[in-house]
Amino acid sequence: MDMQVIPARSEDYNLKDYQKTRENFKWDDVNKHFTWNETGKVNIAYEALDRHAENPAKKDKVALLYSAPGREERLTFADLSKQSNRFANVLKKHDVNKGDRVFLFMPRSPEFYAAFFGILKTGAIAGPLFEAFMEQAVRDRLQDSEAKVLITTPALIERVPQDELPKLETIILVGESGVAHTYIDYHREMAGASDEFDIEWVNLEDGMLLHYTSGSTGKPKGVYHVHNAMIQHYATGEWVLDLKEDDVYWCTADPGWVTGTSYGIFAPLLHGVTNVIRGGRFTPDDWYETLEKNEVTVWYTAPTALRMLVSHGEGALRKYNLTSLRHIMSVGEPLNPEVVTWGLKAFNLRIHDTWWMTETGAQLIVNLPTLEIRPGSMGKPIPGIEASIVDHEGNELPPNQMGNLAIKEGWPAMMRQIWNNPGKYESYFINGWYVSGDSAYRDEDGYFWFQGRLDDVINTSGERVGPFEVESKLIEHPAVAEAGVIGKPHPERGEIIKAFISLNEGYEKSDELLEEIRQFVKTGLSAHAAPREIEIRDSIPKTRSGKIMRRLLKSWELGLPTGDTSTLEE
Ligand code: PRX
Repeated sequence: MDMQVIPARSEDYNLKDYQKTRENFKWDDVNKHFTWNETGKVNIAYEALDRHAENPAKKDKVALLYSAPGREERLTFADLSKQSNRFANVLKKHDVNKGDRVFLFMPRSPEFYAAFFGILKTGAIAGPLFEAFMEQAVRDRLQDSEAKVLITTPALIERVPQDELPKLETIILVGESGVAHTYIDYHREMAGASDEFDIEWVNLEDGMLLHYTSGSTGKPKGVYHVHNAMIQHYATGEWVLDLKEDDVYWCTADPGWVTGTSYGIFAPLLHGVTNVIRGGRFTPDDWYETLEKNEVTVWYTAPTALRMLVSHGEGALRKYNLTSLRHIMSVGEPLNPEVVTWGLKAFNLRIHDTWWMTETGAQLIVNLPTLEIRPGSMGKPIPGIEASIVDHEGNELPPNQMGNLAIKEGWPAMMRQIWNNPGKYESYFINGWYVSGDSAYRDEDGYFWFQGRLDDVINTSGERVGPFEVESKLIEHPAVAEAGVIGKPHPERGEIIKAFISLNEGYEKSDELLEEIRQFVKTGLSAHAAPREIEIRDSIPKTRSGKIMRRLLKSWELGLPTGDTSTLEE
């Protein structure tokens, strides 16, 4: 096959020989990078912050380079270590103990990071929520996790349905509220707290993080991660992010999503590297400005953002000096070969696609700096990971055959359970393989190629949306009788959300009504879950057992053959 490949440049990458490392590698080899390997005392917050803060050569190094409109701050490792100690003391005062769930619902800010690590230092489990969530999304997550404490802001508190959250004992507000007496005031509490704290030592298998994510059925599920994940965060930080002491690293993902914690917080800080933190939504010029101003060297972003830069044109980029940049990665959705080609021209750099999931906790299949890139391919499994393509029974398929992308079970960052849903965890495995639900194939040389989802999960601009959640919200609207929701292919966003609805009696189709329904989802659930298209039908196809046949809706939408419809309701 005539295929364009992009050779690796002859640079001094951390991972020199992929094959040799793969052959000899054991995960235990990574343990020597952690203090617990000698002391037996475990806490990811210690490894990411305090260890550096106790090191005279490192303590004054900048850990976070924060900027937002109207606010710029630098926090050293010592600063962040102390600030998180203070917050841990605040939490102890409010009776937070190991294993309790403490949620964060706020934008990225220095306070967020102090609170996040403060939570981990108490041995509690942190639950970061994306700031764009509306009431329903917040309620579902806080109820399911039985969160005891929430840290949020005056602007977001109105989306927290406190009456429906009996387990939520304490709310800490960051910022002026005018109703401070009802809530705990973050800054006042911090001012009164000691910056020394006896960190709670935990076990590697103790919980540290809950990330809610969507499947094709049911409410979002709480993916439970443990401290042991640090082993893989560290290893991939070395091999894939290629982090070195003097790097300035920027991960654009929000910590409400797993990329924003595993690679926006843990991997770089475990390596003691300086992080650029930039909140909010940006224009292409904001992206370039952030790269230039901070002299970013390593950049981890998403196809949606890169596609936006492509359509903005190379001229815009040429106004900036981006010569510091040496390594770019992407995650979350398929990285178009055209974007990789554009990156070569525009940045004179390769863009490295990486594949993984909330459930997997860390990168698994990647384009390593050391290996050639085949544009459109997700790359190869990292050392320590065996990946394959399997059929329904978990049998491995030969090269070039499409099937379910699967990973041999047992890697450090893998989720350990689905919160509040014992038994669910096992359903991810067949025949010793963790089955991803992504359809893919592997070529003769071991490169993996993503093809799509095997279930109904929607990926819109890199954000994972469950159709059930959107359907449930839609039918709460008085006009909507039934709803079926699908992902519809879209050149820039990957997919957009399209809803098919039937109307209750007494409602007439109108543009105003459709817009009202769209807004209803947007303000009730979240902006990224709101359908961009809504189509009214007399009825929504269901199976005889009452399941919405999304596959049929999709076939209709795309003009494809409808396949087996024998289970369709009369
Ligand atoms: O379908 C795959 C897609 O995103 C899903 C995981 O989404 P989430 O749990 O939100 O995690 C995203 C970031 C870790 C996968 O099942 N996906 C992720 N990376 C890629 C991808 N699809 C294609 N190419 C990728 N590199």
